[in-house]
Amino acid sequence: MGKFVRTLVTSALPYANGPLHIGHIAGAYLPGDIFVRYNRLKGNDIVYICGTDEYGVPITISAEKEGKTPQDIVDHFYPIIKDSFDKLGIIFDNFSRTSNPIHTETAQDFFLKFLEKDLLVKRESEQWYDPEKKMFLPDRYVTGSCPECGHEGAKGDQCEVCGKWYESVELKDPISLLSGKTPVLKKTTHWYMKFNEFQDRLKEFIDTRKDWKNNVINYCKGWLDEGLEERAITRDLDWGIPVPLDDAEGKKIYVWFEAVLGYISSTKEWAEKKGDPSLWEKYWKSEDTRLIHFIGKDNIYFHALMFPAMLMGYGGYVLEDDIPANEFLNLKGSKLSTSRNHAVWLHEYLEAFPPDPLRYILAANAPEGKDTEFSWADFQSKNNNELADILGNFIHRTLTFVHKYFDGKVPVQSKLNKSDGVLLTHIEEAVSKTGEAFSTFKVRNAVKHMMDLARAGNKYFNENEPWLTRKSDIERCATTLNMSLQSIKTLAVIAAPIIPFTSEKIWKFLNLSETLNWEQAGVTDLKAGHVLNIPEVLFKKIEDEQIEEQEQKLNGS
Ligand code: MF3
Ligand code: ZN
Repeated sequence: MGKFVRTLVTSALPYANGPLHIGHIAGAYLPGDIFVRYNRLKGNDIVYICGTDEYGVPITISAEKEGKTPQDIVDHFYPIIKDSFDKLGIIFDNFSRTSNPIHTETAQDFFLKFLEKDLLVKRESEQWYDPEKKMFLPDRYVTGSCPECGHEGAKGDQCEVCGKWYESVELKDPISLLSGKTPVLKKTTHWYMKFNEFQDRLKEFIDTRKDWKNNVINYCKGWLDEGLEERAITRDLDWGIPVPLDDAEGKKIYVWFEAVLGYISSTKEWAEKKGDPSLWEKYWKSEDTRLIHFIGKDNIYFHALMFPAMLMGYGGYVLEDDIPANEFLNLKGSKLSTSRNHAVWLHEYLEAFPPDPLRYILAANAPEGKDTEFSWADFQSKNNNELADILGNFIHRTLTFVHKYFDGKVPVQSKLNKSDGVLLTHIEEAVSKTGEAFSTFKVRNAVKHMMDLARAGNKYFNENEPWLTRKSDIERCATTLNMSLQSIKTLAVIAAPIIPFTSEKIWKFLNLSETLNWEQAGVTDLKAGHVLNIPEVLFKKIEDEQIEEQEQKLNGS
């Protein structure tokens, strides 16, 4: 897409109704963080925005289940979520909350602008109502069969299987979540967004996004072919952003209509914290900004159709440049789920293991083109056989050798032979291939090309047998170690977006004065005599007992 000078990246705002699990991470956060880290290493102007999604039915249902108030729930989970992101090294420029006043203002402003532009219509309609509980049943308070694909147990506003956004009265065989009974229809008034009026513009928008992932384009084309219809964007609910009108007692803005605006309000908050309150506009209102949303596939409708329509409708905003939506990560064959407690919880993982092995396995196994499966056995094998035995081993054997036989200083490089040339080619290719993969959101490929260099390094070390040449040909031995160190320097850089904590350690072993940055990848300029630091073990092997303990947790859940 065209020329851009700055990038604004968002990851879906997690609901503050539970802790994070690894399915969230694999879908929307790790891929976003890897992309952002790569761009930061390149020195690009990039801002990474997120926050918690704190209104709407997902929160009130959790509150009712726990016998707490919605406020208690979001106040409890916000710090837990934030802490897990921090510890996993998912670094946002701002991590906001949709309950912040700046967000309320932003959402109400959008609502009023839509009203002013005649893009909303107020209408009386019938909605599901639970006569026992004396309550309307918005969104997840009612389940039934999806009007689109027939999936049973679809939510009132959206189907998890086909992704469609519909009016809950379209659900077949509805059941009230509160009473377990069939609800009745009752009249109420709501504001509807004239979504149909965006049909042509959205079609054109999607048609020009040729390099988007197939799943996103195909879903959108399907929905556009069916034709867009008016959608209610208000609800009868206590917990939410009030509709900013006098005749709207008890009405709240629909959570999806305001949550996506959390990206904007979080950027506003970021700008304020930077002491330049209008800075957010540069990122949202300039044609030369590239706007990218990282999401899971269940969020496609809202990010690829509804939000662009909102930005178009308001006017003056940049539209999405890309929406790399991921498929799901499964656990024992089914999607991870907060409400069913079918998950590996991030905070629990982080109590047991360091962050990088999880980042590595989720990147290696990212659900980019299809759903993928997480298993503890795979986790153990990737940690032990790949991270420890390949990457960790290459770095460790090289550095310990240099400390033992070369006084911890970079050995002198003499004449290069064919195998040195092969290694140099591997270094070059690893840089260009990982760079290409990082910039096109292909984290699986990035992992592969990064590990290919570590493999090539080990092969080079083995073939050159420095433990023999040390006695027979010391120049050759020195060159071998010099070249190994040069490739380790590149490894530190290209691994940084994936396993940043490890990368930092490697960079420290090399004792370089520059800060780690992408320019240094492929630059084989470690000077003879440069003093290196003593290495430590990068990846501890994970024992069977540790894995069994985790397995038991899963079976108990
Ligand atoms: N909370 C939603 C979910 O977990 C995602 C919201 S993304 C936003 O599915 F942009 F709307 F905030
Ligand atoms: Zn469906």
